[in-house]
Amino acid sequence: PLSVRADTPSVAVSNEVRSSLDIDWDNLGFGYHKTDFMYVSKCGSDGKWDEGELQPFGALQLSPSAGILNYGQGIFEGMKAYRTEDDRILLFRPEENALRMISGADRLCMPTVPVNMFIQAVKQTVLSNERWIPPSGKGSLYIRPLLIGSGAVLGLAPAPEYTFVIFVAPVGNYFKEGLAPIHLKVENTYHRAAPGGTGGVKTVGNYASVLKTQLSAKKSGFSDVLYLDAVESKYLEEVSSCNIFLVKGKKIATPHLKGTILPGITRKSIIELAQTLGYEVEERAVCVDELRDADEVFCTGTAVVISPVGSIMLHEDRLEYANEGLGKVSKELYSALTSIQMGQSADIM
Ligand code: COI
Repeated sequence: PLSVRADTPSVAVSNEVRSSLDIDWDNLGFGYHKTDFMYVSKCGSDGKWDEGELQPFGALQLSPSAGILNYGQGIFEGMKAYRTEDDRILLFRPEENALRMISGADRLCMPTVPVNMFIQAVKQTVLSNERWIPPSGKGSLYIRPLLIGSGAVLGLAPAPEYTFVIFVAPVGNYFKEGLAPIHLKVENTYHRAAPGGTGGVKTVGNYASVLKTQLSAKKSGFSDVLYLDAVESKYLEEVSSCNIFLVKGKKIATPHLKGTILPGITRKSIIELAQTLGYEVEERAVCVDELRDADEVFCTGTAVVISPVGSIMLHEDRLEYANEGLGKVSKELYSALTSIQMGQSADIM
């Protein structure tokens, strides 16, 4: 992890400061909270970013004609800052998010935010909102960098102005189940992404398009939806907000990146950690029927971290995985990942 404040004394946030915030630190879910500051930088048609500055958290002013509002020209990132037991504040592999945002910006014809500018802006935003970083072990500060076409357009074209915003919110578990297993439903009608589309970058539109299926799955008691490929409806893609892994003995399989799957930073980290721990990791086309004899299934993502899957509804069959919480392999990977994120062991990258 990259320490935000490696060489300065730690500044512990007192219990008084924390309790003055209207937050139940023991029961943080994954919800919106207004915090103190947001970072804002703009880029005009000359392609140059301005200085960028922290502003009090608040509404952005946008023309009703803004590219993001009309044509969805926007991408985002998800990252987390962690408070360690000795009150240091850590980011996990932020350069990976910076690079992913560059590839998304290129796909949507937006100016790229240089890696260094991205990381410095994230650090400033985190530190200016330090009192919102949960106590060690109680959650993290979720960081949401957004890059949007803020300039006005009418005909379909790239916007003439872009805004790079970063805001934060304290979060706990993404799924209400926490580390208890989630229940998924394989989606048979709708698809998340098609070959040649934008599934492999973090566009805002990728997330609006999965709401309908997610809501209907939730109504039927599932936690989320597992998508299949749009060509043959035969291979696994991903869950609405996270990647998927299957464990069979010492082998771990996950769908390969072919432009329709989000290249998750937790996904990449888990692949590397699993290899270091002696597992054979296969990134390949994973047939939906392989769900039938997997020992363990789990999801990964910045927001979800690692989430065990307890059951999957596949057509008419309910496939059950016999884990009460994290399974043996996912538990091992979860500890390896979170101990790096919490600064208890060195990053292997
Ligand atoms: C993340 O995991 O950070 C994401 O961006 C997913 C989002 C739906 C919360």
